[in-house]
Amino acid sequence: MKNIIAANWKMHFDINEAQDVARKMAEIIDTTAIDTIVCANFIHLDRLNTIFQKTNIKLGAQNMYFEEKGAFTGETSPIMLKSVGCKYVILGHSERRHIFKEDDNLINKKTKSAIEHGFIPIVCVGETLDDRNSNKAFHVIENQLKNSLDGIDLRKVVIAYEPVWAIGTGVAADKKTIEEMHNFIRKIATDTPILYGGSVKPSNAEELASIDNVNGFLIGGASLVAEDFKDIIDKFIKTKGV
Ligand code: PGA
Repeated sequence: MKNIIAANWKMHFDINEAQDVARKMAEIIDTTAIDTIVCANFIHLDRLNTIFQKTNIKLGAQNMYFEEKGAFTGETSPIMLKSVGCKYVILGHSERRHIFKEDDNLINKKTKSAIEHGFIPIVCVGETLDDRNSNKAFHVIENQLKNSLDGIDLRKVVIAYEPVWAIGTGVAADKKTIEEMHNFIRKIATDTPILYGGSVKPSNAEELASIDNVNGFLIGGASLVAEDFKDIIDKFIKTKGV
């Protein structure tokens, strides 16, 4: 199973800041033991493509529309992303689902389009605290997977399990919670890398990497600092022994 560590820079950095962090990453991160991906804002992609060109860091977007072109003001197409060297695209992130009201049906269309255009989509699923407290976590994840990945060859995607209540809080989900959910997802997606996301940082990277069926991380806050991102990558590789 392929291991993947992806940075999700979200809506951070102006072009100069993005360039500085990317240059630092290009200088200090050089591994082929896992796939390293930086998912940056659309504005940054072209510049980052140049910076990462001769490195082992791959480029990803944080969203994508499913149509190739047309009257879709404010949207970004697979053709556009391809032209700036993107290989990956995050789809259905909880911030897209909750703030921008994306549903499984739209995420499904985007995922199909991403695969058709040669991208590897990182499809995110995650339950809210309410879901968890009312014992609906497994049901919610099962439904999100079933609906957003309907009709899709699961060997062509990456799944990221990101409990909404652990994102950006500084407190990751506990080991048992992650282990149970990743084992549950593994039964549905036997050959798909499953990433964990939600407050992954240097201080918990080893513990989280030690969990079975955690095939990598999707990292927000801690990926904004090149040294922290590298530290997490090093700890993951060492703990997994890859
Ligand atoms: P975080 O974000 O690492 O800042 O919690 C993860 C994500 O939303 O992908």
